[in-house]
Amino acid sequence: MKAHFFQPPAAISAFFIHFCAMFQKLQNRWKVSGISLVLIICTFAIGGSLCGYAGRKIMALLPVDKGVLWVIIYILLITLLWPLAVLLVSIPLGQFTFFRKYIAKIIGRFGGRRQTQPVRIAIFASGGGSNALQIINRFAGSPHLKIVLIVCNKPGAGVLQIAADHHIPYLVIEKEAFFKGTHYLPELQQYQTDFIVLAGFLWKIPAGLIQAYPHKIVNIHPALLPKYGGKGMYGHFVHEAVVQNGEKETGITIHYVDEQYDHGTHIFQARCPVTPGDTPETVAQKVLVLEHRHFAEVIAQVLGYPLAT
Ligand code: GAR
Repeated sequence: MKAHFFQPPAAISAFFIHFCAMFQKLQNRWKVSGISLVLIICTFAIGGSLCGYAGRKIMALLPVDKGVLWVIIYILLITLLWPLAVLLVSIPLGQFTFFRKYIAKIIGRFGGRRQTQPVRIAIFASGGGSNALQIINRFAGSPHLKIVLIVCNKPGAGVLQIAADHHIPYLVIEKEAFFKGTHYLPELQQYQTDFIVLAGFLWKIPAGLIQAYPHKIVNIHPALLPKYGGKGMYGHFVHEAVVQNGEKETGITIHYVDEQYDHGTHIFQARCPVTPGDTPETVAQKVLVLEHRHFAEVIAQVLGYPLAT
């Protein structure tokens, strides 16, 4: 006998898919876990009802007849009560920090001020970290750009010492967990990471992380992409190939990260000559000079806060 499974009507399936997509979008936008988002929605709902209830009770005490004036006073009252109600409800639901920032943001917008919170950046690096150091130094003191986390896949890598020296929290990640996709997302969210910079990070970024940070991950590559990119093309392998092929010039590419190695949209390139006497080591030095000169500035420009020269 043929089994008949329950098939939900198409409209219900479409609604469910739409709801899940919206949930995921909000989670990414607010950088919170699924549980936090549920609690945030509950806070909005309970806080909203509480505010409406309190508003009506207060209005009943006022000597104002129902009419235009009543509506105006009610709207003003609700506008004042709403932040108080959600903040109050957010405490037992553990979402106070989120709502404090959320309300400050709304007030900032009403006041016509640009959001004053800095963009919170995580740097992923696997090596010595000279680029990470350059970025840290260039962004130091910026009210708009803040390095909040260093992520590294190599215990003992130089970049970890740089993080420690600059009192920046760091996270050493493991391959299997990282390639699951979103395994380290809670840590990134814990530091409220807005943007990710790959500065000598050699693992491919999993799709889950790219979806969580759409158009918010940039990489630097030590060659003029699309030449000398792809799997296995990193560090000295790039410079060896450049010299071996008798290239007349090389350089750097800063690009958005997508699901393929060294493939996303280019943001910036800078060039340097390769002369007959050059070795992979001398080419590496020239390229590193370009990286240190441009990377921090390009990131700052992408984020809308050009650095003072
Ligand atoms: C940099 O040259 C960077 O372009 C390269 O690793 C080096 C890291 O140096 N990245 C790649 O090759 C990525 N494919 P650093 O640790 O001194 O910043």
